[in-house]
Amino acid sequence: MDVVQHDIIIVGGGGAGLRAAIAAVEADPKISVALVSKVYPMRSHTVSAEGGAAAVARSDDSLELHGYDTVKGSDFLGDQDVIQYFVEHAPKELTRLEHWGCPWSRNEDGTVATRAFGGMTTKRTWYAADKVGFHMLHTLFQTSMKYDRIVRYDEHFVTKLLVDGGAVHGVVSLDIRTGALKTIRGRAVVLCTGGAGKIFPFTTNGTIKTGDGMSLAYREGVALKDMEFIQYHPTGLPGTGILITEATRGEGGFLRDKDGVRFLVERDYGLGKKAELGPRDMISRAIHQEIKAGRGCVGPYGEYVNLDLTHLGEAKINERLPFVRLLSKTYVGVDPVKEPIPIRPVVHYMMGGIDVDITGATKIAGLYAAGETACASLNGANRLGSNSLTECLVFGARSGEEALRYAKNAGSANEAVLQEQAKTEVARIESLRGRKKGGERISVIRRELNQAMENGCGVYREQKTMQTAVAEVAQLKGRFADLGLQDESKVFNTELINALELGNMLDCAEAVTVSSASRKESRGAHACADYPNRDDQNYLYHTLCYFGAAGPRLDKKAVTLGKWQPEERKY
Ligand code: FUM
Repeated sequence: MDVVQHDIIIVGGGGAGLRAAIAAVEADPKISVALVSKVYPMRSHTVSAEGGAAAVARSDDSLELHGYDTVKGSDFLGDQDVIQYFVEHAPKELTRLEHWGCPWSRNEDGTVATRAFGGMTTKRTWYAADKVGFHMLHTLFQTSMKYDRIVRYDEHFVTKLLVDGGAVHGVVSLDIRTGALKTIRGRAVVLCTGGAGKIFPFTTNGTIKTGDGMSLAYREGVALKDMEFIQYHPTGLPGTGILITEATRGEGGFLRDKDGVRFLVERDYGLGKKAELGPRDMISRAIHQEIKAGRGCVGPYGEYVNLDLTHLGEAKINERLPFVRLLSKTYVGVDPVKEPIPIRPVVHYMMGGIDVDITGATKIAGLYAAGETACASLNGANRLGSNSLTECLVFGARSGEEALRYAKNAGSANEAVLQEQAKTEVARIESLRGRKKGGERISVIRRELNQAMENGCGVYREQKTMQTAVAEVAQLKGRFADLGLQDESKVFNTELINALELGNMLDCAEAVTVSSASRKESRGAHACADYPNRDDQNYLYHTLCYFGAAGPRLDKKAVTLGKWQPEERKY
């Protein structure tokens, strides 16, 4: 088996991964960074982000306000030291991206334009029309190409972390193109692999978002934190789940029931004047309730409500929301200039992830994580829209710098132990490839997993349905061991990749279901029908879920409060 050596290994080539790589080589141009990604970096999920990235830019705004909005949006579960660090670094990161070539939209006077987003007090979201992820990712990718010390391993799937003596020393990686396995050795590893939205059937997430990094860390004993908090974005297209950006509402769009009523204004959903610009958890619940009350429309893909942009006019839609117009015409045959867009809540983002501190460090020395795969507790129980692209930059940069600092003084490893681990991993992968003997099919387990998650961990949850989901996921994990694979080939063996991804998804689903069932209150995106109130007395803590061969183990971690004490969350 080939062995290659670098100083730092970054797994994932999206916004957080590229930012981490650039931060490391900028801090030390001699350092060698491996950027390992299961897809070509420009295909990372960051590319599909639409509406914008948050940072204070206007004179009517302040770091204090951005901090408070984020704490309140998080339903007081966000760690306030992390939030403070985030809001301070956000404007610097977005300005830096401007200097690297990101084409932010401008005001008439040439200043950077900002738009309104849910739960934000003022216009704070920087944008480039409604293709922000594409432009940010492109900017980061082209900047990374300036550095020949960043060595790319495109279409390489990392299957295992090499850990010895409480420290990480590299990864085992499968070259998808050739089927060859290699050891990539490094003194530090940064996981930037995104979330695991594909454990749900109806999601804005791309096919690649299967929780790979979360599972890698979980399997080595790092906790997955706050996994019960799954964000439903209020506006996805029925059928495909394609995102219709919150920027539609930021630019003045309305939500209407089947009779044309603006229900967020006319009925009491606790959103006050915020209406369509409320936070995602509350708006998703309102839509759910409208549909349940029989005020939704019925279409070929189930019930929905309407997102009305017709009053914005064609010129504004073309200038600010051209992608929304294209998506609506292409996927639901609706021109938003003339008709409302059918939408319903859709799984979008995971507030939880790998338990890291403010530097991105896990409890394994040298192992860091950033972006959606990590949980530094910026987002608490509910993320505000447009904070996550900025999060990728702020904490991608921080973890890249910290990984470099660590790598410079990292201790050595027991070579025999690492070689044995790599050998065992190769045997595991080879035994999966084309293994005909198992009776279970990937597609069947995956479909049942999706169903279990939707039934158990939807917009509203109940103890009974969550407990059922816990049992179903445990049963599916058992059946996964009996998977049968048909394809013995090496080159682009997508069946093998699908099997590995399914294993990762099951790990994440286990953490989501078990953590959800343990939280007997309602907070942020975790809305329990049988425990409808927030309970700070008993549940103001982060949930930690640890892997165990005999089943997961739960623990708690204190929330770092600060100047903002928990209060009733009203808008
Ligand atoms: O609606 C959106 O454009 C999504 C933004 C986000 O999730 O931050």
